[in-house]
Amino acid sequence: MAAARTSSITVPAVRARKGGEPLVMLTAYDAPGARIADEAGVDMILVGDSLAMVVLGYDDTLQVTVEDMAHHTAAVARVKPRALVVADLPWLSYHVSVEDTVRNAATLIRAGAEAVKLEGGRKRVDAVRALVDAEMPVMGHIGLTPQSVHAMGGFKVQGKDADAAAVLVADAQALAEAGCFAVVLEGVPDVVARMVTEAVDIPTIGIGAGRWCDGQVLVVHDLLGIEDRVLPKFVRRYASLKADAVAAVAAYAADVRSGAFPSDAESYHLSDETARVLGLYGSAADAVSA
Ligand code: KIV
Repeated sequence: MAAARTSSITVPAVRARKGGEPLVMLTAYDAPGARIADEAGVDMILVGDSLAMVVLGYDDTLQVTVEDMAHHTAAVARVKPRALVVADLPWLSYHVSVEDTVRNAATLIRAGAEAVKLEGGRKRVDAVRALVDAEMPVMGHIGLTPQSVHAMGGFKVQGKDADAAAVLVADAQALAEAGCFAVVLEGVPDVVARMVTEAVDIPTIGIGAGRWCDGQVLVVHDLLGIEDRVLPKFVRRYASLKADAVAAVAAYAADVRSGAFPSDAESYHLSDETARVLGLYGSAADAVSA
């Protein structure tokens, strides 16, 4: 059932939810996905660079470009969702120069994003400041940052010792100080996420970061069971759409092969008069009568 919320979610509204009702964020990559998320009443739609893995079939997120992200952001934005639309800046779009960063983020904003997200802590402060100066709201992302998959040696939980936990706290504080309106905490122990959440005055959005964040985000393909090859510990699967879709397509294939599809009711028909002009009569005329 559609949630009964109506007014649009803005960046200041998200920022103001710190410590309040938990924020709900979900990924979407196209118009139908955006409609599903919006009608379900999520607060933020993330056009994530997880696009690379769950939609485009790559093994990591490093393969998508600004053009790919803009294409999918535009599809989501065309729905004009009530939810805030956040788009991921892909790998290498904010690592080379501040000028490139601002131009690439502007491409996503012009495609319809209302905010951009980038990965990394203190080393991203200059980029965040430049984007905020150019009036583009920024969401940070620290912990397990998928664009660092090779540097991290795989998709591994981060912040597992005292020093690493302290680094995460300092990173989150630096991002908040630089002007981020929220920060994603991915793949960190729950108590570390709690430390970070208590250390900053902006909302933390967790994924694999436990219950003490100010909000949660999941990849829609995981939540709906469209992706069924892996089930990370932090995913709760609310449906099995891949299995349902395979069963539905198999039933269609069986109906085509047996002749059960299409039926008479699923076919278009000529009028009796036209059928007569064409010389169709008898059982053929029955089949073509409107
Ligand atoms: O790309 C993405 O979907 C993300 C979420 C996992 C936070 O960044």
